[in-house]
Amino acid sequence: MRFSPSSRGRLAQRDVDRFPGDTLFARVARAVCRARCLPRKELYEAWEMARRVRRLFRSGRIVDLGGGHGLLAHIMLLLDDSSPGALVVDKALPASSAKLHEALVQTWPRLSGRVAFVARALEDVDILHTDVVVSSHACGALTDRVLDRAVAARARVAVLPCCHDLGTCNAGALSGWVDGPVAIDIVRAMRLEQQGYRIWTQTIPANISPKNRLLIAQPRCNDASPRTAE
Ligand SMILES: C[S@@+](CC[C@H](N)C(=O)[O-])C[C@H]1O[C@@H](n2cnc3c(N)ncnc32)[C@H](O)[C@@H]1O
Repeated sequence: MRFSPSSRGRLAQRDVDRFPGDTLFARVARAVCRARCLPRKELYEAWEMARRVRRLFRSGRIVDLGGGHGLLAHIMLLLDDSSPGALVVDKALPASSAKLHEALVQTWPRLSGRVAFVARALEDVDILHTDVVVSSHACGALTDRVLDRAVAARARVAVLPCCHDLGTCNAGALSGWVDGPVAIDIVRAMRLEQQGYRIWTQTIPANISPKNRLLIAQPRCNDASPRTAE
């Protein structure tokens, strides 16, 4: 049977051999398998998002809003060790987030003490302009709150929106031409530009998730920008 990257099945010890080799992805995947708690698609989503964001944004504290298990934050650190640490914020942190963290620290001891988890609403954490705010699949209008928080701090930000809700999200006047979720994401992107951000519109592979539009943005004038890789 095909090993689909979009499966919600949990990766487990029995899956370790599916990820042979010495690449960073294979090593992360094997650590995730050992933690035995993460849905397979979250591994692929976090990896694909992190590598695209890291091509643009170096350094900075990573703030993973609505972070769930926080794998995205960990991979961001592994891809660029010049970030001092990461904060994973989720109002309902999964109990197994600690298990995943321990499995990753076992493989990369340098992660120890550098990832903080806070069980709090994303509205209640401080964000600095030097931070890199990331959020994978913050449902519906939660993505807009992530963007608002990042913009208020003038921080770099990347979101992979999902569960677009035409009732609570702004599709502007575009839904006569493009489907509602696309309209919502275009309005988000245009709004960021109006707010003085440079944006990048990318996608992760659709076979991982159909909710695959990645919106990356950085203030046109930001002390952190000289560290941005082009
Ligand atoms: C669909 S999950 C995504 C989790 C993770 N980022 C991922 O990609 O697998 C959305 C997460 O947002 C969290 N969440 C919802 N409202 C929140 C809020 N106001 N502040 C912080 N986290 C919130 C939920 O608890 C949930 O873990």
